Amino acid sequence: MSKYKIEFAPVDFSDAIKYVEEVLKSGWLTSGKFVNLVEERLSDYFKRPFLLTSSCTHSLELAYKFAIEKTEKNLFVVPTWTFAATANAAVNVGGRIAFYDVDDNLSVDFKSLARILQKHGNDVAAVVTVDYSGLPVDYKKVRHYIDMYAPQALFIADCAHSFGSSYLNEPAGFFADIACFSFYANKNLPAGEGGGVLIKSEWERDFRLMRLHGISKDSWARYGSGKWDYSIEIIGKKANMSDLHAAVLMAKLERFDEDQKIRLAYWAKYAEVVEGIEGVRMLPLSIGVRRGNAHLAVLLFEDINRRDSVMQCLVDAGVMLSFHFPPLHIQPAYTSEMFGVEVVESFGSIAEYYSNRVFSLPISAYLEPEDVDYVCENLYRCLHT
Ligand SMILES: Cc1ncc(COP(=O)(O)O)c(C=O)c1O
Repeated sequence: MSKYKIEFAPVDFSDAIKYVEEVLKSGWLTSGKFVNLVEERLSDYFKRPFLLTSSCTHSLELAYKFAIEKTEKNLFVVPTWTFAATANAAVNVGGRIAFYDVDDNLSVDFKSLARILQKHGNDVAAVVTVDYSGLPVDYKKVRHYIDMYAPQALFIADCAHSFGSSYLNEPAGFFADIACFSFYANKNLPAGEGGGVLIKSEWERDFRLMRLHGISKDSWARYGSGKWDYSIEIIGKKANMSDLHAAVLMAKLERFDEDQKIRLAYWAKYAEVVEGIEGVRMLPLSIGVRRGNAHLAVLLFEDINRRDSVMQCLVDAGVMLSFHFPPLHIQPAYTSEMFGVEVVESFGSIAEYYSNRVFSLPISAYLEPEDVDYVCENLYRCLHT
């Protein structure tokens, strides 16, 4: 039993039981029918090939490995305000890193991005963006900077937070060369564990090979066709999704639009409470054509002590909170020589400023309306004490 009255991101997976049961009864638990079905649906939605993987982290590793091979460069320009996976994946495929800063909405700071690209543009394999909290980055502007300073580089979008968001009326990730998604347990579209990669049609074969050891036919294709022979064409990774996870994903995909309506309504309730209170604001859901999915409900405070006291007040009331993210450029893993990570440049003063001024409120389509009312009442009280 949790000590919290309100969980941070609860999910009820019981609607997936029917599909999971079907998978278990079929005896085929690795990638199979459900992986293919979900891939078909998501490829239709994105109008580009979408491959399921075991996680967003593995999707990033595939994308980065591909970028190194394609560009023959190994520098990854990543935001400092992100989860460890965005940068670790670069190190795990032999890449170097440069960290750029965030703006006041915890999205791309174009000044620091430009400074890195002006200095290191020729070495860049990929510029990586993160749609933090589900708010899409300005995809066209990022592309413009890549074209200007590092035209060989790929644009890789870490869309771990942004399934269901849109930019210029296209799904988040659409305007990048490669976009990596997470279906981790707390995401808007959860499978428990899982990820996916959105690619260009001409790269589909490369990614299928990379996803499963470089083998020319996965086992579903081998057993299905009755032809067992295969060749190993490249040194790949092991990053396929199991059919059990794809079955959960199918169930959640079927109710995604309904879940999103509830999540957006909850986000709006929090925004109403915070509106007009001095010294605190909510990270915007959308900015112009950049339309978010309310993955996180992030509060930003002007005063560090007030942030701490409001957090404590909510925790005392039994409300579970979260914090995203400690900036990466000051973490031991990236600053200590011990780990052999090569960081060629770091910008992060804005990220450092916000790092102790934010926290995230509980948000999920599976919170009850009265749970959200309880958070709102306590948020109001804590902001006024
Ligand atoms: C920005 C970002 N990128 C990547 C990941 C990694 O996702 P996964 O757990 O699917 O590997 C996360 C996880 O939450 C994330 O927040």
